[in-house]
Amino acid sequence: MPCARARLIVLAATCAVFVSLSSAADDLGHGEAVYNGICLACHGGDGAGSLPGVPDLTEVAAPLSQDDAVLLKRMVEGFKSPGSPMEMPPRGGNPALTDADLKAALKYMRKTFQQAK
Ligand code: HEC
Repeated sequence: MPCARARLIVLAATCAVFVSLSSAADDLGHGEAVYNGICLACHGGDGAGSLPGVPDLTEVAAPLSQDDAVLLKRMVEGFKSPGSPMEMPPRGGNPALTDADLKAALKYMRKTFQQAK
């Protein structure tokens, strides 16, 4: 099955990237890699959301105005606000992501999407 094999290779490559970047001191670069690898699919390259139900993270009153602790908990456990058509999956749907990966992604998101207040 060429398809299944290709998928395995992609998975292995993704893991290798995460492992090599985890040891890097550059949190922001790591966060960018995590974001672009996992979160971008739903949140979009500009953070404005690429699917219905995904919030615009660039708005002033956006989810990113909340504390790190609140957001990290929701990124780890998953989150669905009342009436939302779609949920934020636990760890963005990738159980291999560590808390440190998510922390780095949040740092990258704050730096990249959050407007100066
Ligand atoms: C499958 C699509 C999907 C992926 C992948 C995804 N998200 Fe989300 N995310 C959502 C949706 C949908 C919401 C809004 C949920 C709601 O309000 O009900 C959300 C909300 C959030 C929020 C705001 C939470 C709040 O308090 O309102 C943060 C922060 C976030 N995501 C971070 C991430 C990070 C970091 C990743 C990658 C590790 C990620 N997301 C991957 C769909 C996704």
